[in-house]
Amino acid sequence: MTKDLLTLASFPDEDFFKVLERAELLKAVHASGEERFTLKSRTLAMIFEKSSTRTRVSFEAGMSQLGGHAIFLSPSDTQIGRGEEIRDTARVLSRYVDAIMVRTYSQESVEDMAKYASVPVINGLTDKHHPCQVLADLLTIKERFVRLEGLKLAYIGDGNNMANSLIEGCVKAGIDISLACPEGYDPDSDILAWARGMKRAKIEVVREPEKAAAGADVLYTDVWASMGQESEKTAREKHFRGFQINSGLLGRAKPDSIVLHCLPAHRGEEITDEAMEGKNSAVFDQAENRLHAQKALLELLIMG
Ligand code: CP
Ligand code: NVA
Repeated sequence: MTKDLLTLASFPDEDFFKVLERAELLKAVHASGEERFTLKSRTLAMIFEKSSTRTRVSFEAGMSQLGGHAIFLSPSDTQIGRGEEIRDTARVLSRYVDAIMVRTYSQESVEDMAKYASVPVINGLTDKHHPCQVLADLLTIKERFVRLEGLKLAYIGDGNNMANSLIEGCVKAGIDISLACPEGYDPDSDILAWARGMKRAKIEVVREPEKAAAGADVLYTDVWASMGQESEKTAREKHFRGFQINSGLLGRAKPDSIVLHCLPAHRGEEITDEAMEGKNSAVFDQAENRLHAQKALLELLIMG
């Protein structure tokens, strides 16, 4: 078993499928109202260098539902914001808590935290990856289709952190993935090469959303400008025009296809209000599944 979740590619297959399976069980336990205090007296430190609604609340609620506790640490009121080194922070926090979740800019920072921490480190989003979101996404897809292998997911928009982690997660799960990205906004080339080398699913990058969506079981999108890219907003609005999930695009996918979005959404840009609210939308189940997937992940990394 691995100590950390840094990327899905580096997360062992055995752990990956265990989390998905345990998440289904934990969701059922939660729905039944049964108490499950497997993480009693355990503490999670959560370092947020970027904003969050879902990640923060689902990790915090998840820890408390499992009988533990979570501490929210923002750079503005800790020494992290005043330049205390990651290698020092990692070793100090490891003396107090049972796991550390980090949302930050560079992937190297999370990798560094994991290198120096003796407790599990969870990537809560970097500029390059968002693995926790994809665990929830796969749980949502499995709920709707019962299986994962052999499905087709179409990703429309920016080849960003979401696209990178979706590629890694889909390949592991045997889901074919077709990404429609404007020129200059492709996913990470090393991740694409890794994914193709795995030979477990078909993977393509195209320029036309209609081509990606053809016959898809899942339509997925994310914002045109991610956190940290605010200054590129106007240029991106121009480059991404047409890279949108709307009723026209839904018409290209399978009739029982589902629409996913990691949220927060910018309605009218990457997705229409109609697609968000329509019968194919599973976005709020997907958001809920962050809770169940992460509880399973916390149990696995902290308890084994
Ligand atoms: N999807 C997601 O990670 O949402 P937050 O930014 O609100 O945590
Ligand atoms: N790509 C988005 C995902 C937010 C959950 C961002 O990084 O802002």
